[in-house]
Amino acid sequence: MEHTLHTLKSTVSDLTQEISATSLLATSEVEEFRIRFLGQKRGVITHLFKVIPTLPKEDRREAGQLLNSLRSVAQSKLDSANLAGNQLTDHSSQIDLTLPGRQNQWRGSLHPITLALTKITNIFYRMGFTIAEGPEIEDDWHNFTALNFPDDHPARDMQDTLFIDEGNPDQSRIMMRTHTSPVQIRMMVAGDPPFRLIAPGRVYRNETITYKSYCLFHQVEGLVIDEGVTMADLKTTIYSFAHAFFGKNVKLRYRPSFFPFTEPSAELDIWWELPDHPDGGRWMEVLGSGMVHPNVLKAVGIDPERYTGYAFGMGVERPAMLHYDIKDIRTLYENDIRFLSQF
Ligand code: PHE
Repeated sequence: MEHTLHTLKSTVSDLTQEISATSLLATSEVEEFRIRFLGQKRGVITHLFKVIPTLPKEDRREAGQLLNSLRSVAQSKLDSANLAGNQLTDHSSQIDLTLPGRQNQWRGSLHPITLALTKITNIFYRMGFTIAEGPEIEDDWHNFTALNFPDDHPARDMQDTLFIDEGNPDQSRIMMRTHTSPVQIRMMVAGDPPFRLIAPGRVYRNETITYKSYCLFHQVEGLVIDEGVTMADLKTTIYSFAHAFFGKNVKLRYRPSFFPFTEPSAELDIWWELPDHPDGGRWMEVLGSGMVHPNVLKAVGIDPERYTGYAFGMGVERPAMLHYDIKDIRTLYENDIRFLSQF
């Protein structure tokens, strides 16, 4: 076809429209497109460039500009199709989409405390316990009074408390909770029996920081309240837990203890084998437990003549440290990647 500047203009505008309406999805379409428009032998645009010398001299410059811009429209269509990954080996741009990505330097892992907490909560979840939570900042009533700690009872000194606001003697003190037991109170105030729940969480105490004690640690609280619940239920439950968590052959000891909010109270110990120890191992305290004290039930408006129940509370750090052979509790809170990436 003979071209004039006029026919060339309308051809270019038709082609521009065609290009912009094209979507290049498959690899074969991209290659077809390249050959049709930009191919060295049969490419439409390549062909049109050959028209320029046949035009009158004064039209050649404008024709050249038109064709250059048409060519760049086609080229950028091709480039973006390639970038979108429609064609993985790309000859027309510098990007090699087949190059593997940079490898991650390291992969995240779960914190040993998270691992232990998950294991504990899963065991109780399978025994039909629901999971409850409470605030880490507590008031005096939930942390102590409702749990049957008398005002000046030495039991309050058993737990060195981190007060946020000492308040007045009217018990409006605000503190970091010293145990997860206030979650018992919150759940019993908010609902009606029966209860069968555990409450995992952080607790805080004003302890000297050493390799074996820290100002914060984790506990899992348990609470079961119903008609006719007995100490036998408590013992069965925590023995089942201990066997599931520490293994079928673990040696257990259940010994009397004291907590203001349970009566009677007892603590569970496990025998931990230590080859280097003169006795071949030692008893390790795992949890405190007992039958919920009638005063606690009264404080939350539950009739102790009708309902009974048990509660327990266990530390998470100690079993986790034994299990993962961690010697210094402080390493659990330092967020050192060299330590954490081992789990
Ligand atoms: N709250 C007690 C503690 O922190 C543990 C406990 C919970 C004991 C529930 C008995 C019942 O030491």
